[in-house]
Amino acid sequence: MSKISDIQWKLDVLQQNTVLNAFDCSDKDLNDFLLKDAKKYILSMLATTYLIRDDNNIIAYFCLSNDRITRDENLGKTQWNKLNRTVANEKRRKSYPAVKIGRLAVSTEYTNLGFGKLIIRIVKEMYAHLKQQAGCRFITVDAYQNALEFYKKNGFDFLTDKDEQEQTRAMYLDLKAFV
Ligand SMILES: CC(C)(COP(=O)(O)OP(=O)(O)OC[C@H]1O[C@@H](n2cnc3c(N)ncnc32)[C@H](O)[C@@H]1OP(=O)(O)O)[C@@H](O)C(=O)NCCC(=O)NCCS
Repeated sequence: MSKISDIQWKLDVLQQNTVLNAFDCSDKDLNDFLLKDAKKYILSMLATTYLIRDDNNIIAYFCLSNDRITRDENLGKTQWNKLNRTVANEKRRKSYPAVKIGRLAVSTEYTNLGFGKLIIRIVKEMYAHLKQQAGCRFITVDAYQNALEFYKKNGFDFLTDKDEQEQTRAMYLDLKAFV
């Protein structure tokens, strides 16, 4: 593959009748989720899946669900103070509305072309730049260890240090920075 600008991609919402032939991002769980589970999550109204595709292939996918960030024992105090300080004094609360990127995967044929970055930009635009249907202040993700740098480069920060040794780390991005 050469450049993202050479690829005629489009964004689709996964539907029950969408034909899913193949997808390989090198992670079996993420492949299986798209091919076997994503439609069930739509029926259960638990996650919406979006596809980035060209005429022949699924280039990447991501899932979104409503979420919230709550001040509790799992959240680092320093991180909470940092996050809370970004909210105007009189609007501060014990929890804030968020949207969670449940899963995000780029097909191995298309990595390092900027599709991951494009997906983060799409989510930011969906929730920050367009008229919001419901208030949403943060994007959250439970990031795989191998993708931490990717999320950091895209403006995400850690919610806590307590999950440093876990398989995934809770991260967030403040949408207010983009409006
Ligand atoms: C991680 C993943 C989403 C990145 O997608 P991608 O389309 O290859 O990333 P991009 O080309 O948009 O890269 C954006 C930036 O992040 C960097 N980057 C991408 N993947 C990275 C990684 N694993 N580690 C460190 N940096 C990474 C790129 O170098 C680029 O940096 P730049 O802006 O300085 O040039 C993709 O490799 C993937 O799907 N991996 C397998 C599944 C997975 O781990 N998903 C994450 C689940 S939380």
